Amino acid sequence: MAGDVTADLITRHVPITLATLDPAGPAARRIAGLWWAMLILGGLAMLIFSVVLAGALWRRRRGGGEDDAPPVNTEEDARRLRRRWLIGLGVVQPLLLIGLTFALALAAMRAAPAAPGDVLQIEVIAHQWWYEVRYPQHDVTTANEMRLPLGEPVQLTLRSADVVHSFWVPQLVGKTDMLPDAETTAVIHADEPGTYAGRCAEFCGLQHTHMGFEAIVAEAAEVEAWLDAQAQPAAAPQGEVAQRGQEVFLGANCVECHTIAGTPADGRDGPDLTHLASRATLGAATVENSAQRLEEWIRDPHAIKEGVAMPPADLDDAAIDALVTYLAGLQ
Ligand code: CUA
Repeated sequence: MAGDVTADLITRHVPITLATLDPAGPAARRIAGLWWAMLILGGLAMLIFSVVLAGALWRRRRGGGEDDAPPVNTEEDARRLRRRWLIGLGVVQPLLLIGLTFALALAAMRAAPAAPGDVLQIEVIAHQWWYEVRYPQHDVTTANEMRLPLGEPVQLTLRSADVVHSFWVPQLVGKTDMLPDAETTAVIHADEPGTYAGRCAEFCGLQHTHMGFEAIVAEAAEVEAWLDAQAQPAAAPQGEVAQRGQEVFLGANCVECHTIAGTPADGRDGPDLTHLASRATLGAATVENSAQRLEEWIRDPHAIKEGVAMPPADLDDAAIDALVTYLAGLQ
Protein backbone atom coordinates (compact mmCIF):
# COMPACT_ATOMS: atom_id res chain seq x y z
CA MET A 1 0.00 0.00 0.00
CA ALA A 2 2.72 2.44 1.03
CA GLY A 3 4.55 1.42 -2.15
CA ASP A 4 1.52 2.27 -4.27
CA VAL A 5 1.26 5.71 -2.74
CA THR A 6 4.96 6.36 -3.32
CA ALA A 7 4.77 5.15 -6.91
CA ASP A 8 1.75 7.36 -7.49
CA LEU A 9 3.52 10.39 -6.07
CA ILE A 10 6.55 9.71 -8.23
CA THR A 11 4.50 9.57 -11.43
CA ARG A 12 2.34 12.48 -10.34
CA HIS A 13 4.94 14.97 -9.23
CA VAL A 14 6.66 17.20 -11.74
CA PRO A 15 10.22 15.89 -12.13
CA ILE A 16 12.90 18.19 -10.78
CA THR A 17 15.75 18.83 -13.17
CA LEU A 18 18.46 21.13 -11.98
CA ALA A 19 21.05 21.40 -14.72
CA THR A 20 23.63 23.48 -12.86
CA LEU A 21 26.26 22.62 -15.45
CA ASP A 22 24.11 23.68 -18.39
CA PRO A 23 24.00 27.44 -17.78
CA ALA A 24 21.83 29.76 -19.87
CA GLY A 25 22.97 33.12 -18.54
CA PRO A 26 26.14 34.93 -17.47
CA ALA A 27 25.67 34.56 -13.69
CA ALA A 28 25.09 30.81 -13.90
CA ARG A 29 27.93 30.50 -16.40
CA ARG A 30 30.34 32.01 -13.88
CA ILE A 31 29.19 29.50 -11.25
CA ALA A 32 29.49 26.56 -13.65
CA GLY A 33 32.99 27.78 -14.60
CA LEU A 34 33.94 27.83 -10.92
CA TRP A 35 32.65 24.29 -10.53
CA TRP A 36 34.85 23.07 -13.38
CA ALA A 37 37.85 24.98 -12.04
CA MET A 38 37.36 23.39 -8.60
CA LEU A 39 37.03 19.96 -10.16
CA ILE A 40 40.26 20.44 -12.13
CA LEU A 41 42.22 21.85 -9.16
CA GLY A 42 40.86 19.16 -6.81
CA GLY A 43 41.71 16.53 -9.42
CA LEU A 44 45.21 17.95 -9.73
CA ALA A 45 45.77 17.76 -5.95
CA MET A 46 44.46 14.19 -5.96
CA LEU A 47 46.78 13.30 -8.85
CA ILE A 48 49.88 14.76 -7.16
CA PHE A 49 49.21 12.91 -3.91
CA SER A 50 48.36 9.67 -5.68
CA VAL A 51 51.63 9.75 -7.62
CA VAL A 52 53.69 10.51 -4.49
CA LEU A 53 51.87 7.87 -2.45
CA ALA A 54 52.23 5.28 -5.21
CA GLY A 55 55.94 6.11 -5.47
CA ALA A 56 56.46 5.68 -1.73
CA LEU A 57 54.54 2.39 -1.64
CA TRP A 58 56.40 1.11 -4.66
CA ARG A 59 59.76 1.88 -3.03
CA ARG A 60 58.70 0.18 0.17
CA ARG A 61 57.55 -2.92 -1.72
CA ARG A 62 60.91 -3.11 -3.38
CA GLY A 63 62.22 -3.31 0.18
CA GLY A 64 64.09 -0.06 -0.20
CA GLY A 65 62.79 2.53 2.19
CA GLU A 66 65.50 4.83 3.43
CA ASP A 67 68.31 2.83 1.80
CA ASP A 68 66.64 3.11 -1.58
CA ALA A 69 66.30 6.88 -1.40
CA PRO A 70 67.93 8.87 -4.20
CA PRO A 71 71.63 9.06 -3.52
CA VAL A 72 72.46 11.72 -0.97
CA ASN A 73 75.76 12.53 0.52
CA THR A 74 75.04 13.02 4.17
CA GLU A 75 72.38 12.73 6.87
CA GLU A 76 72.03 16.48 6.63
CA ASP A 77 71.19 16.25 2.91
CA ALA A 78 68.57 13.57 3.63
CA ARG A 79 66.91 15.73 6.27
CA ARG A 80 66.89 18.71 3.94
CA LEU A 81 65.31 16.62 1.21
CA ARG A 82 62.56 15.38 3.57
CA ARG A 83 61.88 18.95 4.73
CA ARG A 84 61.58 20.07 1.12
CA TRP A 85 58.98 17.44 0.39
CA LEU A 86 57.05 18.35 3.53
CA ILE A 87 57.06 22.07 2.85
CA GLY A 88 56.42 21.66 -0.87
CA LEU A 89 53.56 19.21 -0.70
CA GLY A 90 52.25 19.97 2.78
CA VAL A 91 52.33 23.78 2.76
CA VAL A 92 53.08 25.37 -0.61
CA GLN A 93 50.91 23.09 -2.74
CA PRO A 94 47.71 23.39 -0.61
CA LEU A 95 48.27 27.14 -0.19
CA LEU A 96 48.57 27.55 -3.94
CA LEU A 97 45.54 25.42 -4.77
CA ILE A 98 43.33 26.78 -1.99
CA GLY A 99 44.45 30.36 -2.71
CA LEU A 100 43.66 29.94 -6.39
CA THR A 101 40.26 28.38 -5.61
CA PHE A 102 39.50 31.22 -3.21
CA ALA A 103 40.40 33.87 -5.81
CA LEU A 104 38.26 32.15 -8.44
CA ALA A 105 35.35 31.88 -5.98
CA LEU A 106 35.60 35.60 -5.15
CA ALA A 107 35.56 36.42 -8.85
CA ALA A 108 32.50 34.21 -9.42
CA MET A 109 30.70 35.65 -6.38
CA ARG A 110 31.35 39.21 -7.53
CA ALA A 111 27.92 40.78 -7.54
CA ALA A 112 26.56 41.34 -11.02
CA PRO A 113 26.44 45.04 -11.81
CA ALA A 114 23.05 46.51 -10.90
CA ALA A 115 20.74 46.45 -13.87
CA PRO A 116 19.99 49.84 -15.44
CA GLY A 117 17.01 51.57 -13.89
CA ASP A 118 14.61 51.12 -16.79
CA VAL A 119 14.75 47.32 -16.96
CA LEU A 120 11.90 45.00 -16.07
CA GLN A 121 11.43 44.77 -12.31
CA ILE A 122 10.08 41.66 -10.61
CA GLU A 123 9.26 41.32 -6.93
CA VAL A 124 9.25 37.80 -5.59
CA ILE A 125 7.79 37.04 -2.19
CA ALA A 126 8.40 33.60 -0.74
CA HIS A 127 5.68 31.89 1.28
CA GLN A 128 5.53 28.44 2.88
CA TRP A 129 5.64 26.88 0.24
CA TRP A 130 5.20 28.90 -2.90
CA TYR A 131 6.38 32.03 -4.68
CA GLU A 132 4.31 35.15 -5.21
CA VAL A 133 5.56 36.96 -8.32
CA ARG A 134 4.75 40.61 -8.96
CA TYR A 135 5.50 42.86 -11.89
CA PRO A 136 5.01 46.29 -10.29
CA GLN A 137 5.49 48.22 -13.56
CA HIS A 138 2.62 46.24 -15.12
CA ASP A 139 0.34 45.76 -12.11
CA VAL A 140 0.55 42.00 -12.56
CA THR A 141 0.58 39.41 -9.78
CA THR A 142 1.03 35.74 -10.45
CA ALA A 143 2.50 32.73 -8.67
CA ASN A 144 5.17 30.11 -9.13
CA GLU A 145 6.00 31.26 -12.62
CA MET A 146 7.86 34.16 -14.12
CA ARG A 147 8.47 35.22 -17.68
CA LEU A 148 11.74 36.84 -18.59
CA PRO A 149 12.70 38.71 -21.76
CA LEU A 150 15.48 36.99 -23.68
CA GLY A 151 18.88 38.71 -23.52
CA GLU A 152 17.80 41.48 -21.16
CA PRO A 153 18.75 41.89 -17.50
CA VAL A 154 15.83 41.79 -15.08
CA GLN A 155 16.05 43.30 -11.63
CA LEU A 156 14.70 41.05 -8.87
CA THR A 157 13.67 42.20 -5.41
CA LEU A 158 13.28 39.28 -3.04
CA ARG A 159 11.72 38.87 0.37
CA SER A 160 9.77 36.37 2.45
CA ALA A 161 6.37 36.52 4.10
CA ASP A 162 7.33 34.01 6.81
CA VAL A 163 10.57 32.09 7.29
CA VAL A 164 13.89 32.23 5.43
CA HIS A 165 13.60 30.80 1.93
CA SER A 166 15.80 31.17 -1.08
CA PHE A 167 15.59 31.92 -4.76
CA TRP A 168 17.57 29.73 -7.13
CA VAL A 169 17.40 29.05 -10.84
CA PRO A 170 20.43 26.80 -11.36
CA GLN A 171 20.68 27.53 -15.07
CA LEU A 172 20.26 31.28 -14.66
CA VAL A 173 21.22 32.64 -11.26
CA GLY A 174 22.81 31.40 -8.03
CA LYS A 175 21.10 31.05 -4.67
CA THR A 176 19.91 34.25 -2.99
CA ASP A 177 18.35 34.23 0.46
CA MET A 178 14.78 35.50 0.84
CA LEU A 179 14.41 37.02 4.28
CA PRO A 180 11.33 38.02 6.28
CA ASP A 181 12.92 41.19 7.65
CA ALA A 182 15.01 42.52 4.78
CA GLU A 183 15.00 42.74 1.01
CA THR A 184 17.66 41.12 -1.10
CA THR A 185 18.24 41.71 -4.78
CA ALA A 186 19.53 39.78 -7.74
CA VAL A 187 19.86 40.37 -11.45
CA ILE A 188 18.61 37.58 -13.65
CA HIS A 189 19.76 37.56 -17.23
CA ALA A 190 18.99 34.76 -19.65
CA ASP A 191 20.53 34.48 -23.09
CA GLU A 192 18.90 31.24 -24.25
CA PRO A 193 15.13 30.79 -24.58
CA GLY A 194 13.54 27.95 -22.64
CA THR A 195 11.83 26.93 -19.43
CA TYR A 196 14.09 26.75 -16.41
CA ALA A 197 13.32 25.14 -13.07
CA GLY A 198 13.64 27.25 -9.94
CA ARG A 199 13.76 25.84 -6.42
CA CYS A 200 13.92 26.96 -2.85
CA ALA A 201 17.39 26.10 -1.57
CA GLU A 202 16.98 26.90 2.12
CA PHE A 203 15.24 24.35 4.32
CA CYS A 204 11.95 26.03 5.19
CA GLY A 205 9.68 23.33 6.59
CA LEU A 206 7.75 20.25 5.61
CA GLN A 207 7.28 21.03 1.93
CA HIS A 208 10.64 22.63 1.21
CA THR A 209 11.09 19.92 -1.44
CA HIS A 210 7.96 21.09 -3.24
CA MET A 211 8.68 24.77 -3.29
CA GLY A 212 9.48 25.43 -6.90
CA PHE A 213 8.68 27.67 -9.81
CA GLU A 214 9.34 28.00 -13.51
CA ALA A 215 11.27 30.76 -15.22
CA ILE A 216 10.18 30.98 -18.83
CA VAL A 217 12.50 32.91 -21.13
CA ALA A 218 10.97 34.24 -24.35
CA GLU A 219 11.38 37.11 -26.80
CA ALA A 220 10.73 40.49 -25.19
CA ALA A 221 7.65 41.08 -27.36
CA GLU A 222 6.14 37.76 -26.23
CA VAL A 223 6.74 38.65 -22.60
CA GLU A 224 5.12 42.05 -23.17
CA ALA A 225 2.07 40.36 -24.69
CA TRP A 226 1.92 37.91 -21.77
CA LEU A 227 2.13 40.78 -19.27
CA ASP A 228 -0.69 42.61 -21.06
CA ALA A 229 -2.84 39.46 -20.85
CA GLN A 230 -1.95 38.87 -17.19
CA ALA A 231 -2.90 42.47 -16.34
CA GLN A 232 -6.46 41.84 -17.55
CA PRO A 233 -9.14 40.81 -15.07
CA ALA A 234 -10.17 37.16 -15.06
CA ALA A 235 -12.18 35.70 -17.93
CA ALA A 236 -15.92 35.65 -17.29
CA PRO A 237 -17.21 32.12 -16.69
CA GLN A 238 -18.28 30.47 -19.96
CA GLY A 239 -21.41 28.35 -19.64
CA GLU A 240 -23.74 27.37 -16.89
CA VAL A 241 -21.42 24.97 -15.08
CA ALA A 242 -18.58 27.48 -14.96
CA GLN A 243 -21.01 30.14 -13.79
CA ARG A 244 -22.08 27.85 -10.96
CA GLY A 245 -18.39 27.16 -10.24
CA GLN A 246 -17.79 30.86 -9.78
CA GLU A 247 -20.69 31.02 -7.34
CA VAL A 248 -19.23 28.07 -5.44
CA PHE A 249 -15.85 29.80 -5.32
CA LEU A 250 -17.24 33.12 -4.11
CA GLY A 251 -19.49 31.42 -1.57
CA ALA A 252 -16.81 29.18 -0.09
CA ASN A 253 -13.80 29.99 2.07
CA CYS A 254 -11.60 30.10 -1.10
CA VAL A 255 -12.01 33.89 -1.15
CA GLU A 256 -10.33 34.30 2.20
CA CYS A 257 -6.96 33.35 0.71
CA HIS A 258 -7.22 33.78 -3.07
CA THR A 259 -7.69 36.69 -5.40
CA ILE A 260 -9.45 36.50 -8.75
CA ALA A 261 -9.27 39.96 -10.31
CA GLY A 262 -12.63 41.17 -11.58
CA THR A 263 -14.51 39.29 -8.83
CA PRO A 264 -14.99 40.14 -5.15
CA ALA A 265 -12.36 37.51 -4.24
CA ASP A 266 -9.36 39.41 -2.94
CA GLY A 267 -7.66 37.14 -0.40
CA ARG A 268 -3.90 37.57 -0.18
CA ASP A 269 -2.60 34.58 1.75
CA GLY A 270 -2.62 32.13 -1.15
CA PRO A 271 -1.65 32.36 -4.82
CA ASP A 272 -3.51 34.79 -7.09
CA LEU A 273 -5.78 32.67 -9.29
CA THR A 274 -6.78 35.30 -11.86
CA HIS A 275 -5.01 33.44 -14.67
CA LEU A 276 -4.57 30.08 -12.99
CA ALA A 277 -5.24 28.06 -16.15
CA SER A 278 -2.36 29.77 -17.96
CA ARG A 279 0.18 28.28 -15.56
CA ALA A 280 1.93 24.97 -16.15
CA THR A 281 1.93 23.62 -12.61
CA LEU A 282 -0.08 23.54 -9.40
CA GLY A 283 1.18 23.66 -5.83
CA ALA A 284 4.40 25.52 -6.69
CA ALA A 285 5.68 23.15 -9.38
CA THR A 286 4.50 20.11 -7.44
CA VAL A 287 2.12 18.66 -10.05
CA GLU A 288 1.23 19.54 -13.62
CA ASN A 289 -1.77 21.81 -14.07
CA SER A 290 -4.63 19.74 -15.54
CA ALA A 291 -8.33 19.45 -14.74
CA GLN A 292 -7.69 16.09 -13.08
CA ARG A 293 -4.87 17.35 -10.86
CA LEU A 294 -6.84 20.48 -10.07
CA GLU A 295 -9.73 18.36 -8.88
CA GLU A 296 -7.42 16.17 -6.77
CA TRP A 297 -5.81 19.29 -5.40
CA ILE A 298 -9.13 20.89 -4.42
CA ARG A 299 -10.48 17.68 -2.88
CA ASP A 300 -7.43 17.12 -0.71
CA PRO A 301 -4.30 19.20 -1.29
CA HIS A 302 -2.58 17.39 1.58
CA ALA A 303 -2.59 14.14 -0.38
CA ILE A 304 -0.33 15.86 -2.93
CA LYS A 305 1.51 18.28 -0.66
CA GLU A 306 1.29 17.30 2.98
CA GLY A 307 1.20 20.22 5.37
CA VAL A 308 0.11 22.81 2.80
CA ALA A 309 -1.94 25.66 4.30
CA MET A 310 -4.95 25.02 2.04
CA PRO A 311 -7.62 22.88 3.70
CA PRO A 312 -9.46 20.07 1.87
CA ALA A 313 -12.65 21.34 0.20
CA ASP A 314 -15.83 20.75 2.15
CA LEU A 315 -17.98 20.55 -1.00
CA ASP A 316 -20.10 17.93 -2.72
CA ASP A 317 -19.10 16.34 -6.04
CA ALA A 318 -21.28 18.58 -8.19
CA ALA A 319 -19.85 21.69 -6.54
CA ILE A 320 -16.28 20.47 -7.04
CA ASP A 321 -16.97 19.67 -10.71
CA ALA A 322 -18.37 23.15 -11.24
CA LEU A 323 -15.45 24.73 -9.38
CA VAL A 324 -12.89 22.86 -11.50
CA THR A 325 -14.70 23.88 -14.70
CA TYR A 326 -14.64 27.52 -13.61
CA LEU A 327 -10.98 27.53 -12.52
CA ALA A 328 -9.84 25.61 -15.60
CA GLY A 329 -11.31 28.41 -17.71
CA LEU A 330 -9.22 31.14 -16.06
CA GLN A 331 -6.75 31.53 -18.94
CU1 CUA B 1 11.24 27.62 0.95
CU2 CUA B 1 12.79 25.85 1.28
